Amino acid sequence: MEPGATAPSSVLEVAHLCKSFAGLKAVDDVSFTVSTGEILGLIGPNGSGKTTLVNVVTGLLPATSGTVHVDGHRTSGRKAYRVARAGIARTFQTIRLFRELTVRENVEVASVAQGRSRRNAVRIADELLAELGLEPYSGTLAGEIPFAHQRKLEMARALAMEPRFVFLDEPAAGLNEEESDGLTHLLKGLPSRFGIGLIVIEHDMRLMMNLCPRLHVLNYGKTITEGTPAEVRANEEVVTAYLGSSA
Ligand SMILES: Nc1ncnc2c1ncn2[C@@H]1O[C@H](COP(=O)(O)OP(=O)(O)O)[C@@H](O)[C@H]1O
Ligand SMILES: [Mg+2]
Repeated sequence: MEPGATAPSSVLEVAHLCKSFAGLKAVDDVSFTVSTGEILGLIGPNGSGKTTLVNVVTGLLPATSGTVHVDGHRTSGRKAYRVARAGIARTFQTIRLFRELTVRENVEVASVAQGRSRRNAVRIADELLAELGLEPYSGTLAGEIPFAHQRKLEMARALAMEPRFVFLDEPAAGLNEEESDGLTHLLKGLPSRFGIGLIVIEHDMRLMMNLCPRLHVLNYGKTITEGTPAEVRANEEVVTAYLGSSA
């Protein structure tokens, strides 16, 4: 979806998703629904299956069982590039950019991969870089820009896929408090600005409680609960599993 454009709302439905690695149930019967315009937070301790869930939903790994649908069209069982074309994009916990390409070229490549002409890709890249405040760096090599901006560039690349849904895997990792606040502000605006649904994975509870009207909590691959930040904070199982006694 291009900035400013409007589109009918879409829904992403993850149903009874399971992923096992040689007997380890990394994702164990997880179900949730997200619509465009929404932000869903995905939280849980280290190793609770968050990244694996994203890998399965985006088609990087095959599901052991369960389904993923976008607007009733099944995406599970399809290859990653087809899932991307069906409207599901992501960023990685560990930044993956073309460090030897410029910032603008990084976004252009994603847009061309989506099937855009070179000319349209240049236009989309310029719009996205302006939108995310990366314009001053557009001619700089991606590997040479500050870390916080590399994270934003990853987001620009995901948005260049013209997705309906974007998974952000720990977008605030390595950011200081000020950068993290700036990021929260930026993320809050994305669903309405781009007509997308955002699924955010993050350890920073302050950021998550601030950003996400709804949180889905995993532990050992299973859903503990889903609810508002207040509901989640009040859930004893969550406190024991994740937040610790100090929360
Ligand atoms: N490719 C893999 N092969 C085997 N085990 C894996 C693989 N990826 C993740 N795991 C295991 O699955 C569990 C969930 O990991 P992960 O999804 O990375 O958790 P999180 O992102 O919540 O920290 C962990 O026990 C992890 O060791
Ligand atoms: Mg992870």
